[in-house]
Amino acid sequence: MLPKDFQWGFATAAYQIEGAVDQDGRGPSIWDTFCAQPGKIADGSSGVTACDSYNRTAEDIALLKSLGAKSYRFSISWSRIIPEGGRGDAVNQAGIDHYVKFVDDLLDAGITPFITLFHWDLPEGLHQRYGGLLNRTEFPLDFENYARVMFRALPKVRNWITFNEPLCSAIPGYGSGTFAPGRQSTSEPWTVGHNILVAHGRAVKAYRDDFKPASGDGQIGIVLNGDFTYPWDAADPADKEAAERRLEFFTAWFADPIYLGDYPASMRKQLGDRLPTFTPEERALVHGSNDFYGMNHYTSNYIRHRSSPASADDTVGNVDVLFTNKQGNCIGPETQSPWLRPCAAGFRDFLVWISKRYGYPPIYVTENGTSIKGESDLPKEKILEDDFRVKYYNEYIRAMVTAVELDGVNVKGYFAWSLMDNFEWADGYVTRFGVTYVDYENGQKRFPKKSAKSLKPLFDELIAAA
Ligand code: NOJ
Repeated sequence: MLPKDFQWGFATAAYQIEGAVDQDGRGPSIWDTFCAQPGKIADGSSGVTACDSYNRTAEDIALLKSLGAKSYRFSISWSRIIPEGGRGDAVNQAGIDHYVKFVDDLLDAGITPFITLFHWDLPEGLHQRYGGLLNRTEFPLDFENYARVMFRALPKVRNWITFNEPLCSAIPGYGSGTFAPGRQSTSEPWTVGHNILVAHGRAVKAYRDDFKPASGDGQIGIVLNGDFTYPWDAADPADKEAAERRLEFFTAWFADPIYLGDYPASMRKQLGDRLPTFTPEERALVHGSNDFYGMNHYTSNYIRHRSSPASADDTVGNVDVLFTNKQGNCIGPETQSPWLRPCAAGFRDFLVWISKRYGYPPIYVTENGTSIKGESDLPKEKILEDDFRVKYYNEYIRAMVTAVELDGVNVKGYFAWSLMDNFEWADGYVTRFGVTYVDYENGQKRFPKKSAKSLKPLFDELIAAA
């Protein structure tokens, strides 16, 4: 069973659902700029309208309530709060008022807010002014300033997340260039990752020093993504080591400095000077900076050691990432997302891997979910019968419960990604991760799919009675 105070709900992010990009004084973010460049988004779309959630907060809260959610994870658009982004720049009261009212309305509805401060949409002004995430001194200070504005504005919020998936800001954003700001470099991803860690550390220190209630009721952490890995050939020591190395390049890249005080040795060995070194001050900010581990998890892979030498742009740890092992077994059927195939056993194994390496920290599963191959091509009636997603959630959530019951993993909450179909970044709107269908063409109406309704009965069964 899960403990009786277990939190569960749904997750979203500002740029993916809010729309209203020119409303109430919002400034541009790097995602507005990126989407405007031809060829960057699969269907040529952007978050300009998205699900129009900025103007539909009451509807979204009613939806959450109808699905039985205890909590809601959403992100704040930095560009609505400080349109130009920086410490000397004007604060936009209209943006603050919007989120203050949203939090009050959520609390009135009995739903606990979990707020992400940064879900990839950096104010464009900071990118222009000093290179944004690339700037080791300015960026952490500006992030701390923005975080302080939000801590001050929202004293009722008790659950804070600094950054969502820093790996995705770093590698697709600065390595492959498939995400905003679309840069391609073999050194910048490691700089960006480092600066995000330091910015996270600064915001955590600010929260603990000046905002955390004396009662101790208030927590802050970072959200890290990770796919679990299995060796391609379980009998080959090189593949076993490669599977471990891949986890280090994916997840320990950020989690090791936070929990253990430095980057994994495997990364230092392969990346050399491209991986920044923590100054003593930076290390003190980062080490010990998580009150909980925020875990985004979707899929697992088989990993084969690459016999060829690592190339300078190798961001995955010099391995091949596959969905098939030596015997040819597939991990699970294809989805609409090329990187995602279901493997519930990998969820349990990954929870155990994190717990062992980092001393059984409290874990919130801040995202878990799936797209479905060809879902957008189906008529609405068929989309609403999303048995594939129902099965995915059922298996993954039960695997999590097994990890709690049999492996001693300390999971305190779970958020399904996502409350509703939304702007899936470079994949546009064709890929749907929602448990709720959004009819973008016909007044943005929301229709809960079968999966949306499947979670409350499941958690009612799995959470111990009060
Ligand atoms: C992780 C990201 O945080 C979220 O924004 C994205 O939509 C989902 N994964 C699905 O790809």
